[in-house]
Amino acid sequence: EQSMHIATYPDVGTLSQEAARYIVRIAKESIATHGRFTIALSGGTTPKKLYGLLAEEPYRSQIDWALVEIFWSDERNVPPSSQDSNYYLAKEVLLDKVPLAEKQIHRMPGEDPDRDAASQAYEADLRRTFGSAGIPAFDLIQLGMGPEGHTASLFPHQPSLHEQQRLIMPVDVPKPPPPRLTFTPPLLNAAIHVLFLVTGAEKAEAVQAVLEGPHQPDEYPAQIVRPTQGEVTWMFDTAAAANLRNK
Ligand code: 6PG
Repeated sequence: EQSMHIATYPDVGTLSQEAARYIVRIAKESIATHGRFTIALSGGTTPKKLYGLLAEEPYRSQIDWALVEIFWSDERNVPPSSQDSNYYLAKEVLLDKVPLAEKQIHRMPGEDPDRDAASQAYEADLRRTFGSAGIPAFDLIQLGMGPEGHTASLFPHQPSLHEQQRLIMPVDVPKPPPPRLTFTPPLLNAAIHVLFLVTGAEKAEAVQAVLEGPHQPDEYPAQIVRPTQGEVTWMFDTAAAANLRNK
């Protein structure tokens, strides 16, 4: 049975500090129980502060970086040096500043013109890293949510919402840049922990619908994220949580 936690913070700074504390805790627990910490990062703008904090004290030295494997839950069809690249966002503020070997950084090849091959290659990398049996269970998948309820690059009414076989797939989404690679529902739902970071008044309506409305994941894809064995934590700022009845 999955469990859910909801917390609201006054601003992005406080939310980011709490998210950093949470990630440090899950990293320590994961390393203590199975010797490493596997994490998938997101894109968007919200997690930038968090990623920067992880590279700074008091968080940086609490993570045994040699035992971390970093992946991405989605990527845009842009070169890794692009300002629009989810990889670039993390590289700038985090990856360049902590002791990580290249082989621990599993960049999603969003710029590859052969998007099927790129998806399959990333899936193969996942399976190699996690071992062969079953669907890889991330210790932590960190996600954002858009104002219409999209998460990773799973957007309303797209066929990706019903994918059951592939772990990674190419999609074309309404938010620029349209061509992307994304984690699919089965991969998201195999996670041990999922951390959603959601800020801003423009998301308040979707937040209420996703958490308190009827189950209609075609309308609100974030509702798909219900890991069978996992724990979901939502961290909001006050504006994003404004419409929740139960805060
Ligand atoms: C992406 C994301 C996406 C993001 C949300 C929220 O590549 O665009 O991974 O799912 O997390 O769009 O983005 P913000 O945090 O910028 O609102």
